[in-house]
Amino acid sequence: MGLRLIQGGRASDGLPGLIIEHASEVATMAGGLRLGVRMDDPALLVAPGGDPSHDAAPAVACWEGRILAAGPRNDLVQALEGSGYPLARFARMDAAGGTITPGLIDPHTHLLFGGSREGELVMRQRGADYLEILQAGGGILSTVAATRAASDEQLAEHGRRWLGEMLAHGTTTIEAKSGYGLDLPTELRLLEIAYQLGREGPVDVLPTWLGAHAVAPEFRARPDGTEAYVRHLVEEQLPGVAAQGRARFADVFCERGVFSPEQSRRVLLEAARLGLGSRLHADELAPSGGAELAAEIGALSADHLAVPSQAGIDALAAVAAAGQPVVAVVLPATTWFLMHEDRAPARTFIERGIPVALATDFNPGTSPTPSLPFVMTVACLELKMTPSEALAATTINAAAALGLADEVGSIETGRYADLVLWRVPTHRQIPYWPAADLVRAVVKRGRVVLERATP
Ligand code: NIG
Ligand code: FE
Repeated sequence: MGLRLIQGGRASDGLPGLIIEHASEVATMAGGLRLGVRMDDPALLVAPGGDPSHDAAPAVACWEGRILAAGPRNDLVQALEGSGYPLARFARMDAAGGTITPGLIDPHTHLLFGGSREGELVMRQRGADYLEILQAGGGILSTVAATRAASDEQLAEHGRRWLGEMLAHGTTTIEAKSGYGLDLPTELRLLEIAYQLGREGPVDVLPTWLGAHAVAPEFRARPDGTEAYVRHLVEEQLPGVAAQGRARFADVFCERGVFSPEQSRRVLLEAARLGLGSRLHADELAPSGGAELAAEIGALSADHLAVPSQAGIDALAAVAAAGQPVVAVVLPATTWFLMHEDRAPARTFIERGIPVALATDFNPGTSPTPSLPFVMTVACLELKMTPSEALAATTINAAAALGLADEVGSIETGRYADLVLWRVPTHRQIPYWPAADLVRAVVKRGRVVLERATP
């Protein structure tokens, strides 16, 4: 596709600094987590008269992996000189009238799995139901079998391939769930591989333990199967996961017919006691008390929320108003791919002051897309989010959903220099060209890690 992955980053030269200049627009997303009407404010810097060659067109300067400053190029260069930065030690990159945003952040993926499930697409076209396929031993359970059978090398290769696709669409940080092992050895393998892929870079990977994704096959024949599996999760998987030390978060598929709010609470509270942050698959298919539980336990995020109850929305609004927001991570590519009519009420969330983030939910069953720009398109078309809201939802709010809002997700002095240079003059065009390849370059920690060979 004309993109080059630059191993280890372009050390042009080994220079510690980078200035990207001649942008039409920089969407800084400065100012922290966005909720309510602020979700629609990307804190823009724009070229005077729309002319990127103007002296005061916006530029971004990075130094040793962090953002130094963003602003009109003439002021910026003067300020750098005034503070004693050696201009000769900055590589220059020409934005050529493009727009610059923070690197996109994908706060909900199931990156690692064996096999694929294209057959279910046809089954669903013929009327099969997602949970019925699962109960019949397909769905998540067929991916569990394929994942258990896959070698570490196969899983890592698969992970590298899809991380490469994510990067090519502008993603610089992801969360990656386990959950296709459902036994301790395989869950640990998935967490270890996710962790090692993050160390390999350039995309940062934050592993989440999702042992509570479905009841493991070994427990399903038992009359008390779900309860016995929950006890196994708390007594055996969690101590092993905590001792391994790779997972940052724990997640549960809290859904009618899968894990109840009471079972989810037990798993997540024990995980929190062992130092893991909480997140939840909540109210995806039926109102199941997931949003209420996320608010009650102070989860970092409640994800899906296609069909939250009124009480659940009220609970999320109340914690947000109290300054303890749970981020609503909505996954519109999933409802679209499942051909479901129920879509997360993102406009209601925004009106009620609940911060919204977007994620791909990348997985083989319900959302096999690695592209956040595509998810932004679906969010605009189906959830009626504005392009600016969609950008907030894939940058600063997505960072907050991962507890990273002080590190990434905005272009502000001191934040990590994770940036995307887009081949469009305004961020409003990112969701406007569905499925196009709009990324010109990706910068990770101040280094150019991907660059389109031809403009
Ligand atoms: O977020 N709903 C639960 N988990 C995933 C789907 C996993 C699968 O079908 O393999 C989701 O949609
Ligand atoms: Fe998911």
